[in-house]
Amino acid sequence: MECRLAKEKLEEYSGNALIILQYEDGLLVKGKLAGVIETARKKGGFRAEKNEIFQVFPCREINADRLILIGLGKKKKSTLEDIRKAAGTVIRTVQNLKRVAFLPIDNPKETIPALVEGSILGNYRFDRLKSEKKEIVLKEVSFFEGNFRFPESKLNEVTILAEGTCAARDFANLPANLLTPRKLAEDAVKLGKKNNIKTTVLNEPDLKRLKMGALLAVGQGSQNRPRMVVWEYKGGRKNSAPLVFVGKGVTFDSGGLSLKQVQGMEAMKGDMGGAAAVISMIPVLGKLRPRINVVGITPLVENLPSGQAYRPGDVLTASNGKTIEVISTDAEGRLILADALVYAKQFKPKYVIDIATLTGACMVALGVHIAGGIMGTDQRLVDLLMAAGERSGERLWQLPLWDDYRPLLNTTSADMKNSGGKWGGAITAGKFLSEFAEDYRWAHIDMAGMDNQESDHPYQIKGMTGWGVRLLSRFALTQSGRK
Ligand code: BES
Ligand code: MN
Ligand code: ZN
Repeated sequence: MECRLAKEKLEEYSGNALIILQYEDGLLVKGKLAGVIETARKKGGFRAEKNEIFQVFPCREINADRLILIGLGKKKKSTLEDIRKAAGTVIRTVQNLKRVAFLPIDNPKETIPALVEGSILGNYRFDRLKSEKKEIVLKEVSFFEGNFRFPESKLNEVTILAEGTCAARDFANLPANLLTPRKLAEDAVKLGKKNNIKTTVLNEPDLKRLKMGALLAVGQGSQNRPRMVVWEYKGGRKNSAPLVFVGKGVTFDSGGLSLKQVQGMEAMKGDMGGAAAVISMIPVLGKLRPRINVVGITPLVENLPSGQAYRPGDVLTASNGKTIEVISTDAEGRLILADALVYAKQFKPKYVIDIATLTGACMVALGVHIAGGIMGTDQRLVDLLMAAGERSGERLWQLPLWDDYRPLLNTTSADMKNSGGKWGGAITAGKFLSEFAEDYRWAHIDMAGMDNQESDHPYQIKGMTGWGVRLLSRFALTQSGRK
């Protein structure tokens, strides 16, 4: 599906549908169409409630085959997210049409990007593993600009961010038998080549040489051996300090010997959502080429129980020499991130941001698909990320990282244990990570629950969401000086 700015005259647009967004209070169009909308309201019962759809077919007042009205609810309460949702809702009902167009609404500078995002994300399907696929006929979505000249470069930008999100969805939706650490690493290298970004893979011997005892322990129970992907995008000046993104990549999290319950375990194929987001930034940066240096680090493992698996009670030594007593083999994400965060230091980063489907506790605290958790050692960085979250529609909410939580990780057997127990579980996980995020400014994003939708939503069908790509890309673009 292609998104384009409509260059023809509105009256001449000859596609299959013309789509108009409507607030409950107040008309957004004048002229001939205003009468049609008026009739839809008075005689058709159209109220313009959020995501309400009304179709006028055929519609004599326009050249397109039909008119589709979509509600936005009350104007005062309406946000850009509502516009993304409205676009997603309509797109999912016109997938059997070939060409459709959106009419401009207020503030096109901000609403057109939201419409484009909602359209691309709403059109996403993951059907490559089905033998019978429902065909998506939709080929072209046009956007009328009204009196505003919408810059082509902005259309390109938002398209690439949304496509990056779809790429991350594909990775996360692929089951663990088809997406092993090796396969994900190979795909990352392919993306790197295609986008002219240096991408290297650390294999087991490399990880051993680097003494990544925590990462290796998590991976030792599976035949699918661990990897670490490191990519380096150099768009900035040679010596300018890079942003470093670290993404948790557990291709399957069974819990290990601390086995998870049966119910819902299949969703743990998506426990590499953080890595999927970081790897999917390769095409985003490769295509947009912002003037900034960025590094991506993704530790990749499969967490399985077996005769070789690591055990509760084991004491591991991470690559910074700190020792960890394993309480639960299901608290594996923080272990692989520990070694990745230590590895990040050599890049002399401006900021390090890790992103991970880390704790069920964060889902309890913030809900699922409303906001991810954020913690960090640098308040300015946390604020910048929260702002990027607001803007991208992938929101964050801060949790404290006070030292008062540190004693919850104390143990007599090692420097720390890998689980602080149930209470404050998202925070103690963050506290654990802070032991390895030394000597740089750091923030941690817990995206557990944001990675997966249990039912269809306007622009995110059931399944993996690709959450994080828009957030991190927006942050990186802003850091590079783009508005
Ligand atoms: N990958 C899980 C967290 C998770 C749960 C993500 C549900 C998405 C949906 C993580 O590895 C985990 O198992 N965390 C444990 C930590 C505990 C053992 C300290 C948890 O949250 O229960
Ligand atoms: Mn786990
Ligand atoms: Zn996990």
